[in-house]
Amino acid sequence: MSQDLIGQLRELEADGARAIGGAGSADALETLRVEYLGRKGRLTAILRGLGGLTAEERPAVGAEANRVKEALSALLDERTASLAPGEEAGPAVDLTLPGRRRWKGGLHPVTQVIEEVCDIFRDLGFTRVVGPEAETTDYNFTRLNIPLDHPAADMHDTLYLSDGVLLRTHTSPVQARVMEKFAPPVRVVVPGKVFRRDPYDASHAPAFEQIEGLAVDEGITFVDFKATISEFVRRFFGPGAKTRFRPSYFPFTEPSAEVDVSCQLCSGSGCSACKGTGWMEIMGSGMVHPNVFRAAGYDPEKYTGYAFGMGPGRIAMQRFGIPDIRLLYESDVRFLEQFAG
Ligand code: DAH
Repeated sequence: MSQDLIGQLRELEADGARAIGGAGSADALETLRVEYLGRKGRLTAILRGLGGLTAEERPAVGAEANRVKEALSALLDERTASLAPGEEAGPAVDLTLPGRRRWKGGLHPVTQVIEEVCDIFRDLGFTRVVGPEAETTDYNFTRLNIPLDHPAADMHDTLYLSDGVLLRTHTSPVQARVMEKFAPPVRVVVPGKVFRRDPYDASHAPAFEQIEGLAVDEGITFVDFKATISEFVRRFFGPGAKTRFRPSYFPFTEPSAEVDVSCQLCSGSGCSACKGTGWMEIMGSGMVHPNVFRAAGYDPEKYTGYAFGMGPGRIAMQRFGIPDIRLLYESDVRFLEQFAG
């Protein structure tokens, strides 16, 4: 009979310990205390059987009952203390659940392209510099061999701030500013914003980014330019990307070229992004015009160089498959968060 009661007490202890370990709140623990150790609880119910024992049997069962009571009581206290007041600890932490992603921000897709491009040119020996967004007609046009009656200088394209002062329409004026300050050799890349009186539609924005490049030294030829740009294209677009140089015209370069890269979306087979051509234009470029050297005080008999200007926004659109340029400038977090690191 006494062995029977001792068995019940041990079972109660095991049950109670399991229940306490699984309880997730102070309330649940209090309920267990009442259920197991309360006046009308399960321990009391077992002890009712003491009456049926002999006087010799009682002390051993009584001692076991006390031990179980103290053990459960200690477990309840311990578990209660481990729970902060009011806090749900949960019966167990489910370590298999995926973590919650924290929104920590990230670089704008155009900024990502600018950083990557400038990093590659830094490895190729180019220094990163910047210039002013408000320029004079002198730097924006005249020193770049663009006469003021050239269509590019027309009111249609240019946002004037006052007579002779404008928002730069390209980053090329920084070429003139760099050459005026530093003697050759120079190798610079110039990221920055430019402004044009363009309509705001899927492929035009009134403010967008450019990266200008300029290299001047004795003996620089178009071959140096082709080699440098081809290396840049391989590093930026990948070893499979093809480069194409097309003759073009810019007032500040002679000869001038446009550089195309095989379309990143269709690998050159032709798609809507490249309008079926298989190519994407990434920059205007050429050998610096002697008049630009003269305006900067460089001797055009002694020095030669190449220059280029690319559009990181267009490159970002191609790279990420962005169909409308306005997405880049509307600060919609639902769009931008796709590019967060
Ligand atoms: N400045 C030109 C533009 O805004 C781009 C450009 C073309 C820059 C040829 C250059 C260059 O440096 O050599 O469209």
